[in-house]
Amino acid sequence: MNITNDIYYVGVNDHQIDLFEGQYIVPNGMSYNSYIILDEKIAVMDTVDANFGEEWLNNIKKVLNGKTPNYLIIQHMEPDHSANITTFMEAFPQTTIVASAMAFQMMKKLYGKDYSENRIIIKENDTLCLGNHTLTFLSAAMVHWPEVMVSYDSKDKVLFSADGFGKFGALDIDEEWDCEARRYYFGIVGKFGNNVQTLLKKAKNLEINTICPLHGPILNENLNHYIEKYDIWSSYNIESEGVMVAYTSVYGNTKKAALTLQRLLIEKGVKKVVLCDLQRDDMAEAVEDAFRYGKLILASPTYNSSIFPHMREFINELISHNYQNRTIALVENGLWAPTANKVMRSMLENLTNVNILDQTATINGSVDETAGEQLNKLVEEIIKA
Ligand code: FEO
Repeated sequence: MNITNDIYYVGVNDHQIDLFEGQYIVPNGMSYNSYIILDEKIAVMDTVDANFGEEWLNNIKKVLNGKTPNYLIIQHMEPDHSANITTFMEAFPQTTIVASAMAFQMMKKLYGKDYSENRIIIKENDTLCLGNHTLTFLSAAMVHWPEVMVSYDSKDKVLFSADGFGKFGALDIDEEWDCEARRYYFGIVGKFGNNVQTLLKKAKNLEINTICPLHGPILNENLNHYIEKYDIWSSYNIESEGVMVAYTSVYGNTKKAALTLQRLLIEKGVKKVVLCDLQRDDMAEAVEDAFRYGKLILASPTYNSSIFPHMREFINELISHNYQNRTIALVENGLWAPTANKVMRSMLENLTNVNILDQTATINGSVDETAGEQLNKLVEEIIKA
């Protein structure tokens, strides 16, 4: 696949994978992207996952058509992109590897070699001239590991963006970008919003016609849309108006409270209400929605004098992904000693700029009239907040 006259796609699609990074379901598979720049000097950009070395090398050989590559540029050392460095160097031993100093340290630890005879160590603003194309390297530390460099080709105005602007889903599946890019972003890069902001500021100084990420489609139209999304996500701003109701339920009573909340919110004019069953729905999707909307209601039974395990997991996910700038309301269920609201509040109260409403609701077993009144008040308060 040609991206420009002399930049080619040589990546692979993975439909065998069950869990990306060992935890994310990817029903539409995953792509590991790799690119070749065919110039006076030839550069290959990144490798692919361990299971696809042969397919990737065949893709490369087809594009090379008998030529030999000069450089292997490693932007990111996570094994989904670096696992075939050794395979590549065995096939093309004269190649010079181009990567950051930290990437070479990781290479030694992961693969036992750091190619000290055959390498160029790059740092911020270093350039590599291939002939007509000159690549400028920019640090993208913590997007998503500390060694990451992105590369900008000033001739074709292409930003090779490493994990940035990536998406779940293989490239032979047609699906809209936003949803699976958002789930990918908040799962994988979401904790590092400040680092993404730093990268976006650098990108602002560049004229970009095409973004070539390491996962997901090559972006070459309407780039403002993707950059705007990344700006909202990485600054923890609210993307869409709406309320998310995330619940756990043992015998269906807390679920009834969640359904009541959904009905009341809609009756009172909230246009978008997202209901999430934390025991059954995808946790990464739940995290994505919590970041997408500005208001969140958590409803949990009291369990072992604490909260239900899936609610604990969800709150821990929010904390570890730097959840902030949001309004939260709490609903608990407890037949004899309800404590879930206290536990949830204590877990959430140190988050940055999170407003936990004083108005809570307590269900004593079933959603009776008293509980109904509290839910109604809570809905009024969260709408006002
Ligand atoms: Fe796609 Fe952070 O590796």
